[in-house]
Amino acid sequence: MSDETAALDELARRRGFYFQANSAYGGVAGFYVYGPQGATLKANLEEAWRDRFVRREGHQEIESPDIMPEVVFEASGHLAGFDDMILECPECGASHRADHLVEDGTGIEEAESIPPEEVQEIVADRGLTCPSCGAPLSGQPVEEFNLMFGTNIGPGSSSPGYLRPETAQGMFVEFPRLKEYARGQLPFGVAQIGKAYRNEISPRRSLVRVREFTQAELEHFVDPERDEPPIERVADVELPLYPADEQQAEDGGQVTMTVREAVDRGVIGLPWIAYYLGVAKGWYERIGVDMDRFRYRQHLAGERAHYAADCWDAETEVGGNWIEVTGFATRADYDLRKHAEHSGEEFTVFRPYDEPITVERPTVDPDMSYLGPEFGGAAGDVADALERLAETDPDAFEGETVTVEADGESDVVPVEVTGFAVEEVTENGEHVRPHVIEPSFGVGRIVYTVLAHACREDTVDGETRTYLALPPELAPTTVGVFPLMDKDGLGERAREIAADLRRAGLSVAHDESGAIGRRYRRQDEIGTPFCVTVDYDTLDDDTVTVRERDTTAQVRVAADDLAATLASLRAGDLAVDDL
Ligand code: GAP
Repeated sequence: MSDETAALDELARRRGFYFQANSAYGGVAGFYVYGPQGATLKANLEEAWRDRFVRREGHQEIESPDIMPEVVFEASGHLAGFDDMILECPECGASHRADHLVEDGTGIEEAESIPPEEVQEIVADRGLTCPSCGAPLSGQPVEEFNLMFGTNIGPGSSSPGYLRPETAQGMFVEFPRLKEYARGQLPFGVAQIGKAYRNEISPRRSLVRVREFTQAELEHFVDPERDEPPIERVADVELPLYPADEQQAEDGGQVTMTVREAVDRGVIGLPWIAYYLGVAKGWYERIGVDMDRFRYRQHLAGERAHYAADCWDAETEVGGNWIEVTGFATRADYDLRKHAEHSGEEFTVFRPYDEPITVERPTVDPDMSYLGPEFGGAAGDVADALERLAETDPDAFEGETVTVEADGESDVVPVEVTGFAVEEVTENGEHVRPHVIEPSFGVGRIVYTVLAHACREDTVDGETRTYLALPPELAPTTVGVFPLMDKDGLGERAREIAADLRRAGLSVAHDESGAIGRRYRRQDEIGTPFCVTVDYDTLDDDTVTVRERDTTAQVRVAADDLAATLASLRAGDLAVDDL
């Protein structure tokens, strides 16, 4: 663990941001509690996400169940393909993620994209050993391990279910109804903030790899032939990109270019992805991610999820490691097609033509009094096969006879009994299957990044101070209210002011214990952006001191204006310098 991450975890535990769950029973790896500060910070972060990716984009938010029946994951491909590589130590029995062993033990990057047999060879060739007990791992099999948590729905085991490994499936499965709410019009976006569950082989780095975590996901359903993103809104945003070819080139590295350049030069293949990378960059800046420790990295071909046609990750650096905080994937029509195949429901939208068109449609109307005696029980299948053939190859009906495949047999049918005809029909539109653009944010990893990037140290009044430079909209507490001393009516006035601020909807900490400097430090350490001090001048002119966290600058504000001033400061409509 690096110094930065160790210090962060210590601060998080001491000040109530996050800590390992179930510690009374020794703790279980991969489960975390957000404490009083962390839960509020996380809720504020989710609200900032909702503001940017739901409300401002005009999308809709839903909440779907965490547990879904097995058939959903048969269809989505998670049952067959949502695996990580596992390797067990022959000595101590500890399970390890084989690709992580390779990355940590050899410096090879993105070992996830290497096939299991090759990973097994690398483990042997490099003489890798068990991180838990030091035993050699050479010759141990590398196997696939499915990450989903299984359960039973209701008593007994007849109805297996799974805790969803991504919130996305709830939005895909409900597409037939969700499209109705969008009045059947593409493009439209559906978002969800909720829990996802993965039985990670080796959870690690506190919030970074856990078994239960929150995702904020957006599924943007678009017409692949007609819909274009409003790229001009973000065209000039500069993107720090690490494309796949740069990762594979010997002297490759990060490149910076605008959204417009990335699209025009084909560095980002799909304009929709470029659009969301531009939007998201502004949002990461807003929530305090350090842009010198941030990049967008394209997935290598072997690294992509089973559903993704292309994917870029937003990555942040913490403690010397790059962390994937968000995936921006092109899922094309994969999920809607799979759910249509498995459920038999319609996962398309109707796209009207500008003008109705007349088309020739080949049809058949087989004479069953001939097919019945001739083909017996297979007559119905022969009729279906004739119908399919008429649609796909009408020319086959030009001769005296036509041959169809039914029930594994080749059957010859006289054309005159097929009732083959070509009709003219008017069509008003067609059914199209939308493509899906999916920005998928890991909320816990973003909380972790924001805390790490906000951690600062400086010297105030000759003493070292640690503080969290959190953006005011994220800070768990907006304002600390302190009486200079709890006497001469100062304590009472401070309590009144704190109550007024709470009534105005602000998050307030009231603290009257210890020296005023100590009280400031306590708030600085949890990132409270403003502190209000009630002193003897307050009793004379009803003004208070407002102190800003990062600069420690102080200004006097009339108590009557305080709530409105602090609300404007929190919303970013006002800066302390403006006061
Ligand atoms: N629906 C797409 C999807 O789930 P993903 O890349 O597997 O894509 C999206 O996950 C995000 O969820 C990741 O970028 C990451 O931030 C977060 N995430 C994934 N696995 C996680 C884990 N075990 N612990 C914490 N966060 C995780």
